Amino acid sequence: MRVLLPYAPPAAGRPATGRPAPGGRAADEVDLAAAYAWPAPTTGVSVRVNFVASLDGAAATDGHSKGLSSPGDRRVFSVLRSWADVILAGAGTVRAERYRAPNPDATTRAARRARGLAEAPTLAVVTGSGDLPADLPCFDGPARPLVLAGSGIPEHAARNLAARAELDVLREQRPGVGAILDALGRRGYRRILCEGGPGLLATLADADAVDELCLTVAPLLVGLGPARLVEGVLGAPRRFRLVQVLEEDGFLFLRLQRRQPDGH
Ligand SMILES: NC(=O)c1ccc[n+]([C@@H]2O[C@H](COP(=O)([O-])OP(=O)(O)OC[C@H]3O[C@@H](n4cnc5c(N)ncnc54)[C@H](OP(=O)(O)O)[C@@H]3O)[C@@H](O)[C@H]2O)c1
Repeated sequence: MRVLLPYAPPAAGRPATGRPAPGGRAADEVDLAAAYAWPAPTTGVSVRVNFVASLDGAAATDGHSKGLSSPGDRRVFSVLRSWADVILAGAGTVRAERYRAPNPDATTRAARRARGLAEAPTLAVVTGSGDLPADLPCFDGPARPLVLAGSGIPEHAARNLAARAELDVLREQRPGVGAILDALGRRGYRRILCEGGPGLLATLADADAVDELCLTVAPLLVGLGPARLVEGVLGAPRRFRLVQVLEEDGFLFLRLQRRQPDGH
């Protein structure tokens, strides 16, 4: 992997591709933990979103994101998780991608402890219908997921979910971003990593609640059919500032931060 931005001119006698990376290493040994370091916010919560998309904005091929991913994307995915208190996902993603509760290896657990984080992030799933069947792998892990449900979930779904997850039935039929982030903040989760999907991202983007977007751009065109990155109407375009670009095998790893109303 190499760093394209922030740009550092090559040192004399070194090829242009051998630029130093965050952490001061050679370009082909980017210190990803440093490149994606995520200090806890001083107040409130911080929302980071991680996505992979094709050049034309598709978020899936054949119903899941695997066909868009790469070894570099999987490394970035793991590093982003290693900085998070909680992984937030919509029920559509948990069903389509057969999500498991995060279970980091010993090295990652040690790194997390050193950062003052719990050994593993919690998986939090948002659902309006409560349709999260008992055989989903997210219920198999060592830790119970947190399920944030809309007020209209059927009684039998609530009973089944309460048996295998920490269930929080929120006040709204379709909980808004405020209720979702409050429910996470109340539990002490401050670094919130949202891994999609496009429905939940639309809700977050519409509320202008995305502080940072970590977007892998896969070098392929997919065409119409699969969901796009954002599947929903936004009240206004949301603007971001590009702060970092890494590259490997033609895949671009963009790190974008929300532009403040004053343009910064
Ligand atoms: N490329 C990527 O990085 C990436 C990442 C994630 C997912 N994906 C792909 O995206 C596709 C799934 O798309 P999707 O839009 O269905 O994913 P999604 O956003 O994860 O799921 C949408 C579902 O989440 C629940 N939900 C979202 N916001 C809610 C809210 N405010 N209140 C209550 N429930 C809420 C609802 O669940 P209920 O239906 O249970 O009510 C809704 O139907 C799959 O093909 C997956 O592979 C790609």
